[in-house]
Order: sequence, then C-alpha cells, then structure tokens
Amino acid sequence: MKFQVIDTLPQKTDSDCIVVGVTPDGMATNARLLNKACKGTIQKALSQGDIKGNVGESLYLYDIQGIKSPRILLLGCGNDSKRDADRWTKIMETAFNCLNRGGSKNAAIFLNDIKIRNRKFNWMLQEATRTMCSAGYQKGELKSTFRKPSKTLGEAKFYVNRDIAAARRSLASGKAVGEGMALTKRLGDLPANIATPAYLAGQARALGRKFEQLSVKVLNEARMKKLGMGSLLSVSAGSTEPAKLIVLEYQGGKPSAAPVALVGKGVTFDTGGISLKPGASMDEMKYDMCGAAAVLGTLHAIASIKLPINVVGIIPATENMPDGSATKPGDIVTSMSGKTIEILNTDAEGRLILCDALTYAQKYGPDVIIDVATLTGAVIVALGNHISAVMGNDGRLISEIIDAGNNAQDKAWQLPIDDRFQRQLDSNFADMANIGGRGAGAITAACFLARYTEEVRWAHIDIAGTAWKRGGKNKGASGRPVPLLTQFLINRCS
Ligand code: BES
Ligand code: MN
Ligand code: ZN
Repeated sequence: MKFQVIDTLPQKTDSDCIVVGVTPDGMATNARLLNKACKGTIQKALSQGDIKGNVGESLYLYDIQGIKSPRILLLGCGNDSKRDADRWTKIMETAFNCLNRGGSKNAAIFLNDIKIRNRKFNWMLQEATRTMCSAGYQKGELKSTFRKPSKTLGEAKFYVNRDIAAARRSLASGKAVGEGMALTKRLGDLPANIATPAYLAGQARALGRKFEQLSVKVLNEARMKKLGMGSLLSVSAGSTEPAKLIVLEYQGGKPSAAPVALVGKGVTFDTGGISLKPGASMDEMKYDMCGAAAVLGTLHAIASIKLPINVVGIIPATENMPDGSATKPGDIVTSMSGKTIEILNTDAEGRLILCDALTYAQKYGPDVIIDVATLTGAVIVALGNHISAVMGNDGRLISEIIDAGNNAQDKAWQLPIDDRFQRQLDSNFADMANIGGRGAGAITAACFLARYTEEVRWAHIDIAGTAWKRGGKNKGASGRPVPLLTQFLINRCS
C-alpha cells in the first residue's frame, strides 16, 4: 500500500473517497467544511441518527453535490476527552476495514482535526499506517477458497498542513512496522508441517535477496556441532527436521559501529519432547517460533526504511519432538559456552536453544543483545495476553525497551531478576538445571539466560502471552513485538 501527504482542502479533493471525522458532539472541523460545500448532507446524516460518532462507527455517503469525490466516509472518532492511543488504533482499523472492503482504490484522509491525549500528530500518522498495513494481512491462505480481494485500497493520502518531511517519515515508519507485522503474523499462523526450520531459513534467505543491506547465512547441524552447541542440538535430537541456526546481518550504519543483536526463539513446534505436553490446545505450539518470526519482521521493517543502524538477527530454529533419539529428563549436555546443563524437563527447551544462540551472538561484539521468545506459560499467568515481560542486566536498556513499547502500542513490563532466584536452578550433577521449580517460572527462565550474557548488556522479552491471540475468530499470531523492536531501533537512530 502507498501513503502520501496532501494539502488540498476536502471539498477540492478528487480521491475515490474522502474520510472525515465525526464525534458524539458533532462534526470535526474538516467535516464542517465539507458539510458547507455539500449543503448540509453530513449534518443530515448525524441529526437523523445514522451515525452517532462513536469509535468503531462509520457511514458512507454517495453522490454528494458540491464536491469532487464520489463518496465520503464518515468515521466515528468518539469524545475528545476519552480519545486515547488505543481508541485511535481502533478508529484507524475501522477506517481501513471499510475502505478495503469498499470500491475505493484510493482515499484522502482528513483527520488532522482529531486530537489524541499525550500524542503528537506525527505519532498518529505512524500509528495509522502501521494499523492499515498490519490489517492488510489476511488469515486463511491455506483454505481452498482463499482469494486475495481483487478490489483493494491501494493508496491513502493524509492531509497534513505542517512539517511535511517529518509527516512523510512517520507514514513510512508506520508502513514498515505494519508490513513487518504482517510477515510475522503469516509465519506464526502457518502450521508446523509447512513452517519448518528449513522454511524459516528460506524466508530469511528471501529477505537477504530482497534487501541489499541484508546478508543471510544458515548454519546446519554439522556446523553447530563443530561450534559446540550441545544444548541447542539436544533439543533437535528427537526430530527428523534438521535444526538451523539462521543469521541475518543488516548493515545500515557505519561499518565500525557495534550492532544490536536480536535473538529469536524459533521452535517451529513444541510437543514438550519426552516431557510431553497435554493434548489440549497443543496445536497452538506451532506459534513457538514467534520470536524468530518477530526478528524476521523487524529486519524486514528496518531494511525497508534503510534505517541507519547495524543489526544482527540470530534465530535458532528447531522442532521439539519425542523420539527414540530424543533427549531424556536427567540428561546432561554441554553448551557452547562450556557450561553443563542437567535437562530435568525437556519442555523447557526454549532456554536450551537460546543459550547457545546468545553465546554465538557475542562473537559480533554487540552493543546490546535482546532476545525475544515465547518462553514460559508462567508469563501468561503473570501478565496475561496484553503485556510482554522484560528482564535483563541493564536498567537503561530495559527503560529503552519499555519506552519503545509504550510508544508503539506494544507494551512491556519489567519483572525482577534477582540473584536469589538463581539458586532455584542449582543442580547436584551439572552447572545448572534447566528448570527452577514451582515459583516465578518466567523469572527463573530469564535467570537461566542471564548466565550466558554476563559480559554484555542484555535484555530478554517473554512474548508467550502477547505473540498470539487466543480463541475464536481472532485466534492467530499478533505480530508483536515487531512494533516494540522496530521503535526501539528507530529511537536509537535519533
Ligand atoms: N513454549 C513453551 C511456553 C509457552 C506456553 C508458550 C504457552 C506459549 C504458550 C515453553 O517451551 C514451555 O513449555 N515452557 C514450560 C517451562 C516449564 C517446563 C519450566 C512451561 O511454561 O510450562
Ligand atoms: Mn516447551
Ligand atoms: Zn517452547
């Protein structure tokens, strides 16, 4: 989808559709201008109660005298006093769904008269294009009846009356994030018989071909064995799908600048292994690669706006399956760092692949490392499906992550990792166990990872609750935390 800035007045615009805001208090400024030009048609729609102006409402008006465009879309924007960031997202979702299902190929959007509490207009523009592009992803590509709609909205123009250059940048950033999210959602929704480790590697390679500044390499199991990744390989031992370590190097900054390393958990299906999971909802464990999908989505986003920064994406990708050759509870393995791990539960596999990926990431001399992983059920108990957990060893890095999430409608909340939790990982037979007992499961998982990142600034984001929408018609990947990660990287460039 294309986005542009315009400065013509609504009544003079010849787009397929003119979008203006209405509220329960009446018409916003642009609606009033338009209403004058078309001799009161909008006022009529409001006073006859066809639209009240609440968030989520919309109404098309056709064949209006006095204007150049064939239709007007009235968009409910709610009361000024209640309009917050979430409501703006909802307003833009409504706009996109109406426009995309209608006959307009392009639209001119006049919402500069709508204000959001604590947010600037450029933020609204970025959020608008993010929402529209991310909503452009259509679920169900494997239904035999799946058709991409033929008549879709191809272009949206936003009315902007000041600082055009900054507005353009906001539109571009939002589009990049939205398209990155769409990629992440698609990969998360694909079933595990299609989205295998090799498939993820192929997707990464395709990104490498698409973007000049991005180069991709894929390490096979033999290479990983040479590197000593005994922990990662203990997870793939029970699977007939070979594991892949996918490495994406994005060079947007100065060659000498230390990169940000993004590490994403890529368990393409998590049965639990020999510590087999119960059957109910096990299908959802296809989304255990959403950390990996988010790293790919984020790299897609920053590469498409040529963000001036260096980033290395590292994705350990594997299945976790039970089999005669699978790892057994009690087995002890040696990780790339040399530390030994007693695997007391093969279902705590995420940390086993991440620890080797974190060690590998440090070869790049990164400025910071952020890992993203659907790591624990415990984080869903703690924070539900709305907020990701963030933990790490550097307060400033954690604040940067939380700020980026708040800005990007992709919240994260800090949980404490304190040395007292580390003792829960003590083992009689190895340097550590891979589980920490009943309490604080999200934290002990992070404590495990902390043992592999002592020499570098590092943060871990547990997205088990936020990467996936549960149940019903909305069931599917959410595209998070692509907005948070991309915003984090954008903020680092300014
Ligand atoms: N992939 C799961 C975590 C998960 C659970 C993600 C629910 C999404 C939804 C992870 O590999 C896992 O199984 N964790 C275990 C750890 C436990 C054995 C210490 C868990 O959370 O139960
Ligand atoms: Mn597991
Ligand atoms: Zn898992």
